[in-house]
Amino acid sequence: MVDISQSVRVGIGLIGTGFMGRCHANAFGSVAGLFDLPGEPVKAMLADVTEAAAEAGAAALGFERWTADWQALIDDAAVDIVAITAPNVLHEPMAMAAIAAGKTVYCEKPLSTTAASALRMMEAAEAAGVVTSVGFNFLRNPMIALAREIVTSGEIGEITGFRGRHAENYMADPAAPHSFRTDPQGGGAVADIGSHIIAMARYLVGPIAEVSADCVTLYPERPAGPGAEEMRRVEVDDMTHALIRFAGGVGGSIEANWAATGRTMDLSFEITGTKGAVAFTQERMNELLLYAGSGARAGYRRIEAGPSHPPYGRFCPAPGHHLGFNDLKVIEVADLIGSHVEGGRCMPDFREALAVQETVEAMQTSSQERCWVTVPGLGR
Ligand SMILES: NC(=O)c1ccc[n+]([C@@H]2O[C@H](COP(=O)([O-])OP(=O)(O)OC[C@H]3O[C@@H](n4cnc5c(N)ncnc54)[C@H](O)[C@@H]3O)[C@@H](O)[C@H]2O)c1
Repeated sequence: MVDISQSVRVGIGLIGTGFMGRCHANAFGSVAGLFDLPGEPVKAMLADVTEAAAEAGAAALGFERWTADWQALIDDAAVDIVAITAPNVLHEPMAMAAIAAGKTVYCEKPLSTTAASALRMMEAAEAAGVVTSVGFNFLRNPMIALAREIVTSGEIGEITGFRGRHAENYMADPAAPHSFRTDPQGGGAVADIGSHIIAMARYLVGPIAEVSADCVTLYPERPAGPGAEEMRRVEVDDMTHALIRFAGGVGGSIEANWAATGRTMDLSFEITGTKGAVAFTQERMNELLLYAGSGARAGYRRIEAGPSHPPYGRFCPAPGHHLGFNDLKVIEVADLIGSHVEGGRCMPDFREALAVQETVEAMQTSSQERCWVTVPGLGR
């Protein structure tokens, strides 16, 4: 927790300027105009792999200073929050250095490359007492908060099943090249996007106790890199189908699939209960479907996002005008700055992201061993 009588300036150090780096920069740049924050984020320093990339990134994204040395960013006195948007394999060394420096750590998902690594990160963060947050931004959607309220309040009765899916098509082309995502340490589809639907399942229904998964590699080799003629073996899954059993007893299924022809962002679920059901897909992220009623009046109805679903009203006073993907990051960052200044957990934090990582790894183990696997860490 920071002494707010001393300073409300919150220095942001951003590592990476790719897809997520730009998304973080946008969020830190716009959050103060939309939310009442206890601290003022200042885009203090940016790091990328080369001086040129860092300088160009800092100019484009509005950072005061730049460096090609991420350790220097972490050690810089003007940096209070370290935002890590580098490839997964760098999350642990960067986060550990930030924790050692006593900084708040905002790390992209998945938390790391293995559950053992994620555990080291969580234990170090908790021992140091630093605030942590992990970029499971889809949980920040007001329609997901509404779904959770509907599920936990008993409005749809006892929960009887969960069907979840995160399906996109960005690796559907066999000529799509290797990247950090297809690296064994990248973890494949089950880590890259499976982590999002696992986090969603946990948020809505609770911890997952057991899994039985089939991880499938569709294309045994891919071009070694963009434009490369050399082919390299693929050692990770393109799609995973898993049966799951929640700790509370509810059964269900999860699919992670980055080769889902025709799907661009189907992070979706259907939760059934004894009295009703809820359904959602990120492709229509401003809508929640609620099944209710009886007899001739039974059916799904569409609830459209609006100011009655906080914090939608922070962005727009009128319903139907719709939030977008980047807005979810703004909501995430607003919460992060609140926790950084005032203290307290910023969910989902490293502890929660470790549980997601353990579930990912249990799916991989289950597929290798062709059996049900208990997810470790339950009750931690
Ligand atoms: N939350 C989400 O919805 C979401 C979406 C996409 C990606 N991600 C996660 O974000 C992370 C990055 O993904 P991306 O799509 O932005 O990747 P990217 O390849 O677009 O960007 C990665 C950035 O990290 C930089 N980088 C690499 N090594 C570095 C080093 N040693 N020092 C400093 N910078 C370095 C790269 O130059 C690049 O700017 C991954 O962990 C990924 O899983 C999350």
